[in-house]
Amino acid sequence: MSSILKTTTFDPARLSLEETLFHTANGYLGVRAAFEEGYAAGTTTVRGSYINAFYDTHPIRHPESLYGFPETGERIVAVTDAQTIELYVDGEKMVLEPGRLESFERTLDMEAGIARRSFVWNTAAGKRLEVTVSRLCSLARPELFAMEYRVAALGEGAEIRLACVLDGDVSNYHDESDPRLSGSAFKPLEALAVEAVVGDGFDVGPAAPRMQTAVAATSTATIRGSLYIESRTKVTGFRLGVLSLVESSGMGTWAAEAGPAEARLELSRSLSAGEELVVLRKNVYVDSERHGEVRAAAGRIAKALGGIGFSGLAAEQAETFRAYWEAASVSVEGDEPVAEGLRFGLFQLLQSAPRDGRSNIAAKALSGEGYEGHYFWDTEIYMAPFFTYTNPALARALLLYRHSILDGARAHAREMGQTRGAAFPWRTIAGRECSAYYPSGSAQYHINADIAYAVWRYYEATGDLAFIAEAGAELLFETARTWLDIGHFDGSEFRIESVTGPDEYTCLVDNNYYTNAMARYALERAVEAHALLRDRDPPALAGIALRIGLAEDEVVQWSRAAAAMYLPYDAARDISPQDDGFLRKAIWDPAGIPAEERPLLLHFHHLAISRRQICKQADVVLAHFLLPGIAAPGTVRKSYEYYERITTHDSSLSYAVFSAMAARLGDAEKAYRYFAETARLDLDDRHGNARDGIHAANMGGAWLAIVFGFGGFQPLGDAVALEPVLPARWRSLSFRIAYRGRSIRVRASREGQSGGRLSKEGEGGIVVRIELAAGNPIGIESGGRRFLLVDLLVFMAQDRSRSAP
Ligand code: BGC
Repeated sequence: MSSILKTTTFDPARLSLEETLFHTANGYLGVRAAFEEGYAAGTTTVRGSYINAFYDTHPIRHPESLYGFPETGERIVAVTDAQTIELYVDGEKMVLEPGRLESFERTLDMEAGIARRSFVWNTAAGKRLEVTVSRLCSLARPELFAMEYRVAALGEGAEIRLACVLDGDVSNYHDESDPRLSGSAFKPLEALAVEAVVGDGFDVGPAAPRMQTAVAATSTATIRGSLYIESRTKVTGFRLGVLSLVESSGMGTWAAEAGPAEARLELSRSLSAGEELVVLRKNVYVDSERHGEVRAAAGRIAKALGGIGFSGLAAEQAETFRAYWEAASVSVEGDEPVAEGLRFGLFQLLQSAPRDGRSNIAAKALSGEGYEGHYFWDTEIYMAPFFTYTNPALARALLLYRHSILDGARAHAREMGQTRGAAFPWRTIAGRECSAYYPSGSAQYHINADIAYAVWRYYEATGDLAFIAEAGAELLFETARTWLDIGHFDGSEFRIESVTGPDEYTCLVDNNYYTNAMARYALERAVEAHALLRDRDPPALAGIALRIGLAEDEVVQWSRAAAAMYLPYDAARDISPQDDGFLRKAIWDPAGIPAEERPLLLHFHHLAISRRQICKQADVVLAHFLLPGIAAPGTVRKSYEYYERITTHDSSLSYAVFSAMAARLGDAEKAYRYFAETARLDLDDRHGNARDGIHAANMGGAWLAIVFGFGGFQPLGDAVALEPVLPARWRSLSFRIAYRGRSIRVRASREGQSGGRLSKEGEGGIVVRIELAAGNPIGIESGGRRFLLVDLLVFMAQDRSRSAP
């Protein structure tokens, strides 16, 4: 399976999409892959760089404002642009246009974490220049975005002028016609200090004067220069420091220039035929929230870089990625397009995950401005499992972020009328509810259960009691309180009215099946966590109880509510209704809706959608997926068939779940059809909006479909279940799982093992090979049998896909 994503077509209409696909990130910093030199006039671009959780606020205006509507929104800030390198050849500015290119290639090395672009460009006078640019956002040094720019004169020599620009005059992108993007202009950064210096001149000391202009030098040795811009966000007052260290060797003249919000270093040089100029640019980004005084921090980080060059940084990057990939690798044989999509998605998750415990993965990660850099339930339900079962330290960091915004969630609970507990905002960066439309925002209370679910799954998979004591239990307890506050006992039942489930096409309903089912799970786990700490860490429990004023009686109430939780059931159809009223509505068959009227949210009033049975995304099916055993197998199957007919998959969070459940139900071919939609969603731009950023939850969903769906993985406490199914076109599927200190390698294939043929394609069995790569023996359940995995297990499993209806 190739780890290189590649395009050799230069298509101006695709450039903003490719800015997303080839972007580089490291969880702290993300840089869209715009051309260094800019584009021809009229080309659409979202030339953005972002720091995770670096935001400013803006007022939210409601013409008809009601009590508790959010008045302040948070939005990620497009930060100082360090990717601009302009090239002038014999005075002509290089701009790529179809007629002037001899060759063009872009690659993303997903194993090494490096993006490259190379091309041969012809000047108007017919001179030929070869340019290769490599870039990376370092995983080992989160503040660093590094670039290597190579330009060679082919055939004949040329006069080169190369300008490295640091641009602090940046604005966010907006589009009034799409509710998934911000509709208003946003320019929160103001430059405070701008410097451009030739030589090793960056002074870590006190801030330099506002401008320092025009220092020129001529040299034959390596020349260094630096650009620095310090800015501040208008409302939050966060500081940002961006320091760009530039170096190049060979004869040339450098000039520095600083303007009000832009700093430039220009190198002038003659290149003889065949000669190459190499410029290295190391851009250090620091923000006051993480780094304190930014100028000093930028200087310190720059100093720690020492003389490391691009190849040194690239080696570090490859080494860091290698370790992540080793734990997370997944491979599918026999289906290269899908395998490529899968690998792309997992690469995006690895490069997007923050490691600092104070930020999360936004819906578009750090690849674009869709959803304004907000974090949703997407992380806990779709992405966290990938990290929990491959690189659990990353899952831990994501969950710690939720703990870090608990105060915001508490404040939100009060706004919503609760006297205690925490209600997490539907979309947020720093803890404020940023959804202006509460029916599909704050009403999605299920996010509280989703967070609790991810907390417990992480604990179950790692046994990390310290995490429960430090953060997990408080998250479980505070969110458990929300259910008691918004739900009520009604006779023998506990019911939850006026909420919205995952399906945003049906809002404000009573007893959404998903919400009640997940709330029950969350309440049970809160009770379990309480008992766990009481037994194993009483001082931690006492500390939390004191801090949040927890009474013993509350835990009893959680238990009672969980036991009495009402889950709607329709006996006539033997399915789980989405909510109390859903099945009484008229059915709207998606098959009759033309492509140009999709997604429905962009073409129909919400009321026209919500009064009918039509779903944006998996809801009941997702509950059945996350909580195996919650309903009888027949109910699960019939529910799947029922909702499948009325789901539009207008949300990218849907296909993967339908894929995973089809696999669990034994229909590998159907699972495959949904999986094919999931795996290449962004690469093929199937939703038409990947320009605004990747669909990160969908990428986590693809992993869920592979491991929990086709792989049939399920944690069972001290054992794990593995029930693989393979679609006809796959020769094999392999993945790796981290579970309770073990590393388990799984391979399911239709072909015999080398050296001892067990079956061959067409004989109807699947060869399952499970290897314990690290850790103590563990029980494995498969096909109704139980094994003890000591080092290696190889057995034949029934090919359930062949017996599926
Ligand atoms: C989906 C939500 C999701 C959000 C961000 C919406 O279209 O309906 O479930 O959280 O996108 O990805």
